[in-house]
Amino acid sequence: MMLGKMTKTLATLAVASLFFAGAALAEPIVIKFSHVVAVDTPKGLAADFFKKRAEELTKGQVKVEVYPNSQLYKDKEEMEALQLGAVQMLAPSLAKFGPLGVKEFELFDLPYIFNDYAALHTVTKGAVGQQLFAKLEPKGIKGLAYWDNGFKSFSANTPIKTPADLKGKKLRIQSSKVLEAQMKALKAIPQTMAFSEVYQALQTGVVDGTENPISNFYTQKMHEVQKYLAVSDHGYLGYAVIVNKKFWDGLPAELRGQLETAMIEATDYANKIAKEKNDQDLEAVRKSGKTEVTVLNAAERAEFKKALVPVHEEMESRIGKDILEATYKATGFTK
Ligand code: LMR
Repeated sequence: MMLGKMTKTLATLAVASLFFAGAALAEPIVIKFSHVVAVDTPKGLAADFFKKRAEELTKGQVKVEVYPNSQLYKDKEEMEALQLGAVQMLAPSLAKFGPLGVKEFELFDLPYIFNDYAALHTVTKGAVGQQLFAKLEPKGIKGLAYWDNGFKSFSANTPIKTPADLKGKKLRIQSSKVLEAQMKALKAIPQTMAFSEVYQALQTGVVDGTENPISNFYTQKMHEVQKYLAVSDHGYLGYAVIVNKKFWDGLPAELRGQLETAMIEATDYANKIAKEKNDQDLEAVRKSGKTEVTVLNAAERAEFKKALVPVHEEMESRIGKDILEATYKATGFTK
């Protein structure tokens, strides 16, 4: 009797262990999500948010591994890694699609093209945003969402109040021809460089200054190596969340649907915290006492706008007249 009971228990245990072994064999699908900024930024936080919701909604059938801070790949490498399938998801800034051959994304780099987040959203949530995503597909890439960061400031080791203050300065830019034209319009010398190299380049004087939303400036500690920051809001920096199309299309439909939901939630979250993070980080830069912060007034901004708006016309053929006009129409942009 006793023996019979034991045999039964052993048999149950054996069945249970077989069941768990089977479950363990069904390995989760892994999404490697690589990005270049710090964790405590709009993009870094939104990537972590996506990971959490994706894993919850798929009940662990999908595992998202987030690699922040250029830990896995730098700007240019990450684009190549995505196309090769070495990573599945990225969120490069919209200024980094030129080298991929999709130069129309540089629309977002045009100086003063968006007055505020609301104007920007008419594009990212509208027809132009979708039109741009369609251009990625022949490259084996699918655009899933636009995530906000914010409006850029200039920094240098000398005060910045007028366009003339940047004349002759070597300024780091992202890999965008529009940004190159923007710096040239200020008679500055643009230097394209990966984001991961900017802090050191500023520290050693390889470049004199740069531009970025405050959240990137602060979390990379650029305020420790730049004496002046001018809040100019002269241009926008945001992201396109992109995936390897073959990988995405090959996912089981149910899981893909759950991931789409996680992405919608992460996008709402990113766009909700972007301004908040930049405002907080501006306060942190001020408090650090290491960089003198000047918020440019309306007259000073008008002077920068006058110097920079000719870049729109200069870059019209690169971006496409139709895209530019559709954007002006959506945002109500005036020179
Ligand atoms: C930069 O290179 O300055 C930014 O695009 C970094 C980022 O991803 O926000």
